[in-house]
Amino acid sequence: MRWTNACDVAPDQAWLVRRTPLVGGRGGRSPHQPIRSSQLIGCLFRRTESIKPIAMYQHLIFPALSRLDPEAAHNAALLALSSTQRVPLLRHFLSKWCSVRDPRLQVAAFGLRFANPVGLAAGFDKNGRVVDALAALGFGHVEIGTVTPRPQAGRPRPRMFRLPEDWALINRLGFPNLGMERVGRNLARRSRPDCVRGINVGPNAASVAAGRAAEDYAHCIEALAGHADYFTINVSSPNTQGLRVLQEQRALDELLGTVFRAIQPAAAARPVLVKIAPDLGDVELRQMLDVAVGHPVAGIVAANTTLERLPTLAGAARADAGGLSGAPLRERANQLIRTAFEHTEGRLPIIGVGGVFGAADALDKLRAGATLVQLYTGMIYQGPFIARQINRGILAYLQEHGLPSVQRLVGQH
Ligand SMILES: Cc1cc2nc3c(=O)[nH]c(=O)nc-3n(C[C@H](O)[C@H](O)[C@H](O)COP(=O)(O)O)c2cc1C
Repeated sequence: MRWTNACDVAPDQAWLVRRTPLVGGRGGRSPHQPIRSSQLIGCLFRRTESIKPIAMYQHLIFPALSRLDPEAAHNAALLALSSTQRVPLLRHFLSKWCSVRDPRLQVAAFGLRFANPVGLAAGFDKNGRVVDALAALGFGHVEIGTVTPRPQAGRPRPRMFRLPEDWALINRLGFPNLGMERVGRNLARRSRPDCVRGINVGPNAASVAAGRAAEDYAHCIEALAGHADYFTINVSSPNTQGLRVLQEQRALDELLGTVFRAIQPAAAARPVLVKIAPDLGDVELRQMLDVAVGHPVAGIVAANTTLERLPTLAGAARADAGGLSGAPLRERANQLIRTAFEHTEGRLPIIGVGGVFGAADALDKLRAGATLVQLYTGMIYQGPFIARQINRGILAYLQEHGLPSVQRLVGQH
């Protein structure tokens, strides 16, 4: 079998391969017998196995969404997800269809158990509004945020751009979010989702300017400890002036020292990860990893968006300021994961992020040394069923190679 991504489906592939009646037929049920709505929906979901959801999204939904400004399209997607999660029956059947449940996909990392290795990266659900719907789409974990202590409007619009020719996005959002109290209330309103819940925390822009970023990270962790399974300290967004300086050896050492001293034992019991930039040089990366290992950091998230613009970029927005994500980031993120895995000798679990569009990309990241993977831009171009597609692909790979667990792949390049 050749290992390709789901995005390699032929554009002219029929999205409905099999035409069968939705109910009745060979099932043996009398046509006069009443059918319950749950049976009808269950039957519908079983029959949809033959639908190629990614091709359908690419040919029908993405073209419609891309007529909207990217941020308006994102808000429409959030609205659709929040409507979905309010209907328990719909959420239930969505979860049944999208969740790929198999013990071989389970991952244990930093004291948590993940149903599968595929997570949604920070930035999609900044305010923790649609975690239940995202869990129903089959993600093993969802990273909410970036959340700052006080609400923040972010940078002026337009601040998000598509580069469809490159399967990439550029954003300079600058952490727009409702602030830790509102996000905490959003999360408290919902029952625990069927997936691991991470919260990505950051400082308000004014705090960075005033040299008080460490206090902001600690405040967010304290305030949201009851709602998170893990935290990610974001020192790598390119859109808050002065933030990336915090990744430098001495600054990071001070920052982590202050944060871990400030948080109370209940909050400190949550694993804390650090998210890094793909634009770090090799020496800087190794220095920051040494600093992380010297503190109770539970793992690394590699990587955030890049400021680099490869000369091969074709999208008209390529010169726009902001962080670039998606396919052009893939190789750089893999390199970073490889170096981090080798340098720490696998002692620090890595969440690999950047350019994951299908199972082949996820497998590459796991083999480079990632224990888990995340994606964001892949969902924009491949659609909401991407986690299902990737998990099915990983499972098929494990099956074909007779591997008992996805964890066997980590660092096996
Ligand atoms: C529109 C947008 C907003 C983002 N916002 C955040 C954020 O608030 N915090 C963060 O740590 N990363 C943020 N990211 C970065 C992603 O979490 C991820 O690290 C990056 O996009 C690379 O993954 P991808 O290629 O799968 O998109 C954002 C990315 C995009 C595209």
